[in-house]
Amino acid sequence: MSRLLQFQMVGRLVIGPGSLIQLPECVQRLNGHHLMIVTDPGLVRAGICDRLTTLLKKAGISYVVYDKIEPDPRIEIVDDCLSAARDAKVDMMVGLGGGSSLDVAKVVAMMLVNGGQVASYVGIGKVPKPGVPTLMIPTTAGTGSEVTPIAVLSDKTEQLKKGIVSDYLIPGIALIDPELQVTLPPHVTAFTGIDALAHSLEAYTNRFSQPFIDNFALQGIRLVGQYLRRAVCCGDDMEARSGMAMAALYGGLCLGSVNTAAAHALAYPLGGTYDVPHGVAVSLLLPHVMEFNLVADLEKYALVADALGENTEGLSLRDAAELSVEALRQLSADIEIVSRLSDLDIPETAIDEMAADVMKVTRLLKNNPRVVTEEAAKRIYRNAY
Ligand SMILES: [Fe+2]
Repeated sequence: MSRLLQFQMVGRLVIGPGSLIQLPECVQRLNGHHLMIVTDPGLVRAGICDRLTTLLKKAGISYVVYDKIEPDPRIEIVDDCLSAARDAKVDMMVGLGGGSSLDVAKVVAMMLVNGGQVASYVGIGKVPKPGVPTLMIPTTAGTGSEVTPIAVLSDKTEQLKKGIVSDYLIPGIALIDPELQVTLPPHVTAFTGIDALAHSLEAYTNRFSQPFIDNFALQGIRLVGQYLRRAVCCGDDMEARSGMAMAALYGGLCLGSVNTAAAHALAYPLGGTYDVPHGVAVSLLLPHVMEFNLVADLEKYALVADALGENTEGLSLRDAAELSVEALRQLSADIEIVSRLSDLDIPETAIDEMAADVMKVTRLLKNNPRVVTEEAAKRIYRNAY
């Protein structure tokens, strides 16, 4: 299976410990004069937002702060942030935080120019024009939203996650400073890290994988295998945090051109209906989806085992491929990932409805290396229960 490779990169990447100091220069490069920082109350309390505003004040750049971002943000939050940005007449959006803050900043930047309702942009390629310039500063190593053309929002009316995908959402600059990630709690480091792994893994084993993107994907998988345990065990291990920041970046670069598959599709109903954070849902489901997918591409799963640091020498292809699932299970156990759906207050009777909902996520299901029927989705959920 092949298709055209289309790859669009973030305008500028600035990455490395201490890189936050470049913030004023980045704002000037994007010609921003009055910007909005979109973030969450936790980052304000932790003083991380202050680190940005101190630099901006010194450089004489004016700003407003919107700090009401919640995990897995609702469409109403975008509307609220948009109206605050319009009132403040900002000319640039800065996202500071995890994927939720970054995604809202990206959508608001787009809507400041395009107007209309959020719902009309849901889907692929529905944005007519570029928005105001954007600068993204991730404080987790997970979604890779700092480089992707994607924003995911929660629609509470339909109890579903909805994705807006457009090249016009690709940020102008991604400023990635692993020093901002040292205070991330171990359990958040753990599930966001497996989410980053899932982006690379689901792109690598994708039905529409691309050899060019495979290089990013394999490197992303290797870095998670090498550094995630360390980042969870010692949050201030700067080498591990830098490795994970790169892993998330590689994962993000996989998303625009190839995107994810069944583990992300099956995670959608958990977030939409039961408010399970995206990374928790994905990390819980990933080993079960891998187990299901294995037979579709033994060779690639064997290489995943290799990238995760397993010794596959002398093993049959089948055994080597199975080792990839074992490696992930061990990693997840080591970093104490929630491993059962039953631990998340989801009733077993919900499985049939969740499986029916998954069938609507055709955007991702079509990418899976093995066809996922409604029956198969039920089986995967049951195995994970
Ligand atoms: Fe994800």
